Amino acid sequence: MKIGIYPGSFDPITNGHLDIIERASKICDKVIVSVLENPSKNPMFTLQERVKLIKKVLESYDNVEVDCFSGLLVDYAKKHDAQAIIKGLRAVSDFEYEFQMALMNRKLSPEVETIFLMTSSKHSYLSSSLVKEVAKFGGCIEGLVPQIIGNAILEKL
Ligand code: PNS
Repeated sequence: MKIGIYPGSFDPITNGHLDIIERASKICDKVIVSVLENPSKNPMFTLQERVKLIKKVLESYDNVEVDCFSGLLVDYAKKHDAQAIIKGLRAVSDFEYEFQMALMNRKLSPEVETIFLMTSSKHSYLSSSLVKEVAKFGGCIEGLVPQIIGNAILEKL
């Protein structure tokens, strides 16, 4: 069974993330979307809120699970018998940091492969931070996040 981990902060999950998850679900037998527990960040949504919202958004996917993790990603991947870490690549600006992380993860755990999926062009400018900023200043975020996430952002604001 091919298991892929799709890790991230997902504060909140966007349509760009969903595109990657949907495509990963077609190449892996199981995808685990795992939300990083990072006490040093000051997120809009708590870890529990993010996990709950993502579960709702992904409820129609039979081979996608939602979980959370802390500590090293490769340790989490090994614990779940995952062969691959799935990452989305938006632009050249993502590449340097992602390349560095992929090489570090390979150094730590050569048996876990990192697979990059190129983002769809219509999502290439999208990020959780930009969505939050646009929403904060009253801009329209329709089409950028699932409806349920849009509602949750507006409630927070
Ligand atoms: O959505 P993000 O914030 O870009 O996701 C970053 C994430 C969670 C993929 C990255 O911070 C991570 O893997 N953190 C776990 C800690 C770890 O394993 N660090 C070493 C990686 S080189």
